[in-house]
Amino acid sequence: MDTSGPYTVADIGLADAGGRKVQWARSRMPALAALREKAIQERPLEGHRIAGCLHVTKETAVLIETLAAAGAEISWSGCNPLSTQDDVAAWLASEGYSIHAWYGQDNKGFYDCIDRTLELSPTLTLDDGADLIYRVHSEFRDLATGIIGGTEETTTGVHRLRAMADAGELLYPVIAVNDAETKWDFDNIHGTGQSTIDGILRATSVLLAGKTFVVAGYGHCGKGLATRARGMGANVVVTEIDPIPALKAVMDGFRVMKMDDAAKLGDIFCTATGMKDVIVGRHFDSMKDGAIVCNTGHYDCEVSIEDLERLSEDVREIRENNEAFSMKDGRTLHLLARGRLVNLASAEGHPSEVMDMSFANQFLALCRLASEGETYSSSVYDISPEQDRDLASLKLESSGVQIDELTAEQIDYLSDYSAGT
Ligand code: ADE
Repeated sequence: MDTSGPYTVADIGLADAGGRKVQWARSRMPALAALREKAIQERPLEGHRIAGCLHVTKETAVLIETLAAAGAEISWSGCNPLSTQDDVAAWLASEGYSIHAWYGQDNKGFYDCIDRTLELSPTLTLDDGADLIYRVHSEFRDLATGIIGGTEETTTGVHRLRAMADAGELLYPVIAVNDAETKWDFDNIHGTGQSTIDGILRATSVLLAGKTFVVAGYGHCGKGLATRARGMGANVVVTEIDPIPALKAVMDGFRVMKMDDAAKLGDIFCTATGMKDVIVGRHFDSMKDGAIVCNTGHYDCEVSIEDLERLSEDVREIRENNEAFSMKDGRTLHLLARGRLVNLASAEGHPSEVMDMSFANQFLALCRLASEGETYSSSVYDISPEQDRDLASLKLESSGVQIDELTAEQIDYLSDYSAGT
């Protein structure tokens, strides 16, 4: 571990390689670039200290440099033990950022890194999964009085924060970036769909065409994954617990069934539910020899590794992020990325083009908190519909796409309830 500066990274010598990756990401994030240009002039985050806890990837590096260009001081940790891109972390450290993250942390290392970022005494926090904010609430409550507000990137984190707010436990306002249409309708669907397939292929290189691919959960992430898997020729089966997404999956043309039944059919299983114990012992018991199991939800609780270990007699890594469990009855089952989010642990996470929108939302939400957060109560706020529309326009404009505008007559027509057949 390299701790020779105000950072904790795996190897500072990887900085050049990381810098080239960041350059690539920057060239594909035009909305954030436009916001950065403006921020350099206006410095909307001047004087703010931001502690961030979000996957350290090339796209996150572009967010970090944008926050810094707006005047903020930054301290950052990863939000998952298996998602940090070590070369990117090294580049950030070499640029002088206080960065504390490496790939393959244990739980202690993970929380130590979050705690290091809190030494900054932040005025704003940024989370992906709510671990940093929960740390403030459970271990560093004194810091909360100096924090104007926070933002949350992901569905799981927003659930946690709404539960904290409902219990009257939330100590400062949080903006649910995840719930912006320009976030979930792109990042969760297109980002998760593509990056999860990418992670599975890097760990297995299997042919998807003709395989039975079981997707657990038909939220936005599950929908994106199911659609992409079908696009590559897989026979997709969806499992659900909620009748509405289950019905959507049926009408989107997927077979929907209980996991108990799907377990017997699947060649590849991927959980995208945000719920624990989705694939457990009895499912492993009925899986086919050679079945591949992974997760793309935020936490590693969706697939029961304890059950897999209990039912197996040997485990060995046969490829990077691909462990073969020899079951006591002679079958072999494969677990990818230790049940952690396969799209970041075994690939590079969502492509830059979608993270552009997610992180432009993050940036704008933090600017909003910096200017108005003091007037907010300690609850969970949405991104405003105006921000959503403006950002969609900015993304189109910066991508060179033009759209039509309503004529004056069409605008009148919208409010004219007398016009019928
Ligand atoms: N979450 C999913 N993909 C990501 C990426 N590329 N960077 C940061 N967070 C992510």
